[in-house]
Amino acid sequence: MTFENLLTSIENNILTITINRPDKLNALNKKTIDELGLAVISGDEDKTVKVIVITGSGQKAFVAGADISEFANFSIELGKALSAEGHSKLFNLIQNLTTPVIAAINGFSLGGGLELAMSCHIRVASDNAKMGLPEVSLGVIPGYGGTQRLAQLVGKGKALEMIMTADLISATDALSWGLVNHVTTPDLLLAKCNEIAGKISSKSSVAIASAIRAVNANYLDGVNGFDVEIEEFGKCFGTEDFKEGTTAFLEKRKANFSGK
Ligand code: COA
Repeated sequence: MTFENLLTSIENNILTITINRPDKLNALNKKTIDELGLAVISGDEDKTVKVIVITGSGQKAFVAGADISEFANFSIELGKALSAEGHSKLFNLIQNLTTPVIAAINGFSLGGGLELAMSCHIRVASDNAKMGLPEVSLGVIPGYGGTQRLAQLVGKGKALEMIMTADLISATDALSWGLVNHVTTPDLLLAKCNEIAGKISSKSSVAIASAIRAVNANYLDGVNGFDVEIEEFGKCFGTEDFKEGTTAFLEKRKANFSGK
């Protein structure tokens, strides 16, 4: 699959998607959001892909936000549709994907860029990254899940401070606040993501899919996450991977999972 605004490559069961609009600091226009959605779905459907890594091209930005030039003249209705479409086409899609997705945050991660990173399952940042939700500077609020996911990750107080001040925070602060899992130098960023992806790839992908569904259930209204955990736990007992994992342990050998 070829894209106008993305570069993709698959190596060692890892699909790397690079958002490729460096002249616009990889801002998310409609085309890029559509293409990202398609790339993520095709990675999820490709059984050779165990982990997806998303990053930005160039040294300066992961993603500097939604493309402001596209929505500057929008009406109330168009604004609402923009947000709703983004949720379903990309941000909720990634959060609920059962192929793990890692954000490699290689610079500015602002507005929709931070919202994209927050919808991923794991975030790794380079030490030059700056993160924030500066939408109130434009007279708008985060509309791609940022008001919800930032509070889930860093707590309500810090989320409201970041959103209301529009301040950008450093990678070090993001690490200590729990917004990112790791910080590396820029040259080691993808290596760190690949190291994490390698560990994930060697495990049971059906069990990982169950774990993602169970953890995500905690954030769904009207759903009891403990009940979902019980269901998903039970389902694991019917998989080939469970038989292989337990047999390999008892035979004192490394498990070779089929992902079934
Ligand atoms: N939407 C559209 N274009 C954007 C963009 C965005 N979110 N962020 C950057 N760009 C474009 C700039 O317009 C500029 O394009 P041009 O060269 O055609 O004029 C190009 O990317 C480079 O950005 P520039 O502002 O010149 O770089 P900088 O180093 O001076 O500043 C930022 C970097 C990130 C501080 C600044 O680009 C910025 O504040 N961007 C908007 C961030 C934001 O508000 N995001 C939330 C959107 S909801």
